[in-house]
Amino acid sequence: MLTWNIRKLDQTSSTNDDAKHAAESGAEEGLVVWALQQSAGRGRQGRQWQSPEGNLYCSILLRPKVALREWGKYSFVAALVLYEAVHFYVNARGDKAVELKWPNDVLVNGKKISGILLESGKGYLAVGMGLNVRQMPENPIYPVTSFAAERCDAPLDQILNKILEALDAWYSRMNKEGFAPIRTAWLSRARRGVLRVRQPNGDIQGQFADLDEEGNLRLILADGTEKSFSTGDVFF
Ligand code: BTN
Repeated sequence: MLTWNIRKLDQTSSTNDDAKHAAESGAEEGLVVWALQQSAGRGRQGRQWQSPEGNLYCSILLRPKVALREWGKYSFVAALVLYEAVHFYVNARGDKAVELKWPNDVLVNGKKISGILLESGKGYLAVGMGLNVRQMPENPIYPVTSFAAERCDAPLDQILNKILEALDAWYSRMNKEGFAPIRTAWLSRARRGVLRVRQPNGDIQGQFADLDEEGNLRLILADGTEKSFSTGDVFF
């Protein structure tokens, strides 16, 4: 069981930077940096993550004991964790579609409600999570939603507690049983159908086929061939 050490800040540049600096100074696994606002929030692929007051911004320090090549799989652990928190609060009546989009987005009725940014250094993994609670990004490049837009007014500290409770369970499962149960759980919550993957030389569209044992997305393309993706953005 993880012991949580929550450091709450009114404001910071990026909780991922704070967690990384703490890790480099020897902080233990279980450190949680939680900020009410970020001035330089980062998203995947070098994008900015708008971070006004009202949303949840946290970075959790983990020190996985497995080989480095396995660390990317914790991105699916983090996705399952946010899925649980969103499902619990936003879909309390069970009338919404909560789904996972490869690699680690949570969608509510097809709209993105959260983001995950994993950053690693020597012996540590900083798991950054951003959740749209009361605010949504301006001019998004994909459809977005928030807890408030879904008529849910859960307090930030309760949402964070739910996240930590779920992380404790899924992290220990991954450490004990490996990626297989994570993959099965992820697949049972995944958005299927046609996906578009952003690649450096243009987008590729295909039918969702599978998440393989390494965490790669497999799509069936229009010509019937199957293609595997290890990174990139998926759009609909
Ligand atoms: C994405 O692009 O979908 C990932 C966004 C991750 C944002 C979170 S907010 C907390 C942590 N600190 C950051 O600077 N980024 C992550």
